[in-house]
Amino acid sequence: MREGVSRDGRPLFPMMPYPTYAAALDDDSALAIIAYLRTLKPIKNNPGRFEVAFPISMFVRAAPKPVATPAPPPPSPTDTLARGQWLLKVGSCNDCHDSVNERHEPLPGKTLAGGQPFYGDYGVVYTANITSDKATGIGAYSDEDILRVLRQGIGKAGRPLYGMPWPYYKGLSDDDKRALVAALRTVTPVSNIVPAAVLKK
Ligand code: HEC
Repeated sequence: MREGVSRDGRPLFPMMPYPTYAAALDDDSALAIIAYLRTLKPIKNNPGRFEVAFPISMFVRAAPKPVATPAPPPPSPTDTLARGQWLLKVGSCNDCHDSVNERHEPLPGKTLAGGQPFYGDYGVVYTANITSDKATGIGAYSDEDILRVLRQGIGKAGRPLYGMPWPYYKGLSDDDKRALVAALRTVTPVSNIVPAAVLKK
């Protein structure tokens, strides 16, 4: 699998999406993640050097910035919509589902409108338009259609999804998954036709 790699082998996603986490996680949540990381079994493995090609390397180097506004604590699970909107942020959905330019910068007015290509052994898939647009987004999907994606990685068309990291999300509580669905319903509809996947047999 070479997810997130372009046809010419260039990483499409050359950066740990820490700006997403910096904006969405309060210090206690970040500390909880650190505490969890410390419980992982040590494994000796050298993943090798990761080279980022020019000019993306410049842009990656210029990205770190101090946190301007510390994030508030996570909304309570009973505050469904706020909770879902928070999960949408910490779940990094925007990093893959925003329509972007070649520098991976979100295009204005195209939040969550999809279209980023993911190449792999499976062929090429494009991130879905997950705005509530009925014709080109997920506005016409039932709650069950979206929950199936989060639980089993099966899309509305009935095929397994590639590139969509549903295993990250399947461990969310059912209430949290439903909160995500509620939040997706409030995403401003954007009409954007995403190219069809081209899958190898
Ligand atoms: C690492 C990139 C990545 C992230 C992060 C990501 N997705 Fe996706 N998602 C994809 C890709 C790629 C597809 C298209 C997969 C395909 O066509 O096989 C997709 C497809 C979908 C679909 C459409 C399924 C269908 O029926 O066609 C939904 C809904 C979805 N994602 C929701 C989400 C939500 C909600 C989040 C955040 C909680 C999220 N995704 C995070 C890459 C991502």
